[in-house]
Parts: sequence; C-alpha cells; structure tokens
Amino acid sequence: MSNLISLTDLTPTDLADLVSRAVRFGRVGVREKTLTDRSVGIYFSKSSTRTRTAFWAAATRLGAHVITYGTDDLQLTTGETLEDTGRVLGEYLDALVIRTNGDVEEMRRIGTASRLAVVNALSSDEHPTQAIADLAALTEEFGSLDRRHLLVVGEGNSSSCALALAAALTPGLRVTLLCPAGYEVPKDILGAVDLLGEGRARVEQITNPSLVQGPVDAVYTSRWQTMGVPKEDPEWLTAFEAFRVDDNFLGKVAAPHTVFLHDLPAVRGQEVTDTVLDGARSRAWRQAHHKMTAAMAVLEWCVTMP
Ligand code: CP
Repeated sequence: MSNLISLTDLTPTDLADLVSRAVRFGRVGVREKTLTDRSVGIYFSKSSTRTRTAFWAAATRLGAHVITYGTDDLQLTTGETLEDTGRVLGEYLDALVIRTNGDVEEMRRIGTASRLAVVNALSSDEHPTQAIADLAALTEEFGSLDRRHLLVVGEGNSSSCALALAAALTPGLRVTLLCPAGYEVPKDILGAVDLLGEGRARVEQITNPSLVQGPVDAVYTSRWQTMGVPKEDPEWLTAFEAFRVDDNFLGKVAAPHTVFLHDLPAVRGQEVTDTVLDGARSRAWRQAHHKMTAAMAVLEWCVTMP
C-alpha cells in the first residue's frame, strides 16, 4: 500500500507514471479489473461534485466495492481520534479517499497507524489528485509536458499549490502563478517546490498580469472563492478584477494553440466568462473527465503497489 497524501511524497517517476496511466485510461478505458474484491472507503466532509463521484466511478470500474461516508457518519464527530479511525478502517478497507477541512498533516495521522492507503481528495493546503488530472489533460493535448508553459491565474489555492508542486516533479514544465497581491501561493509551498525540484523547478509567482511572458501553452483558473469559503476583506473582489480570464485576457497571453483549463466548479462571469469556458480553447470538460482517469490511476497505484 502507498499513500497519496501530498505530491511531496512522490518521485518524478511516480508522478509521470500516474499521469501516463491516467492518459491511457482516458484513451483505452479499463482493460483489466485490477481492484476486484478490494474495498475502498470515500469520506467527504465537504461538498464535491466531481472528485467524490470520480473516485466512486473509478473504484467500481476497476472492480472494487465502495462505501461512502458523509460529514456525520464516522465517530470522528464524537471524539474518536484520527489515528484510531484509520487503524480500525484499515481492518476492513484497502484505501480511504478523504476530503476534509484539515491539512496534509491531519491526513497523515489517519494513515499513521493504519494498513490502508490514504488518498487526499482535497485538503486545506493541497489537491494532489486534481493536479494529476490536470497534467493528464495537458499531456493528452500536447503529447508531452516538455517545454510547455502553464499560466495559473487566481488565488494561490489548493489546486495552484498542487500544480506548483507537480511542476517541481516534472522537468521541462514551466508554471507561472499569477495571483492577486495578498492571495498568493504560500511561502512554505514555494519552499517545498524548491526542495522537490532541487533548485531547478521552473515555477515563478507574479502579481502583475502585464508581467506574464507569453504566449503560454495553457491558461488555468479556479474559483475565486475556493470551496465557497468567504474572504475576510469585504473589498476582496476589487483585487481580483484584473485576473478574470476573458477573451481580452486570453488575447494578451495566448497563441493559436493555447488551451484553457478550469478545475471547476466555475462561477461564470467571475473568474471566467462563458465565451472562454465554452469556447474552442476550453478543455475544462475533458479535464473533468480526467478526474476519473486520475482516480483510477491513483487507486490502482495506492492499492496494488508492492
Ligand atoms: N475540482 C474539484 O475538486 O471539484 P469538486 O469540488 O466538485 O470535487
């Protein structure tokens, strides 16, 4: 069993294998039910349209049995510890896919005393399986990530953090994080990027849209109110106005081949316009498909790794 709690736990080869497996699932579908008679738990205490369903579909297509838990279903709500919960569930399950308000370290506590594989399906600080889906969509589009430049626009949220870490593990992929001042990717993540990439990661953060060195190969954005969490500053929207991905924005950074990605859900008219999200450059819907192929790759890797 292997956990997938943070991308910092992976080697460049691990990540490349997961992405290429996800791309393959997208191309040929499931050829072998590699998780037959395995049991997968899915525990989400936060809302989800894509990730929870993608993991359920992935596990069942690979032959596993699935049990899902909502916010109040586990005795965690009555005080049982994370360690005890993981230890007990490990007696029944092969993997537990988790989305909570906690951080990566909290997820590690569930895996500590447990025999099950823990998969981070979104923590407060990272969204690793989203990054695998994103890289699968880009690989499918361009054939390779080598010498590709991805512009990530908006708040330095868990998806942006995961993409920065994924870039550190992917030699040849350049990522520019374009965030409003005050809403950047946290310094500890950028430190982890440096460590992971051994100083060679091509990840930079800027706060001025006019400083983007285009044309870029892909433009990526996310909801400005990540997971609907309100921001403290009542004037926060003002800081984000110049970061809306519309036709004008794309006109300044895009080449003819440039594609648009969005991790979804979108707030149409806020971080992205209808013309971009539904336009010819948009790969957001195929990217959403890769949430499931990435989930297949991750579950297979976590459960069947020797
Ligand atoms: N992108 C993403 O994680 O979507 P959900 O919140 O719907 O799972």
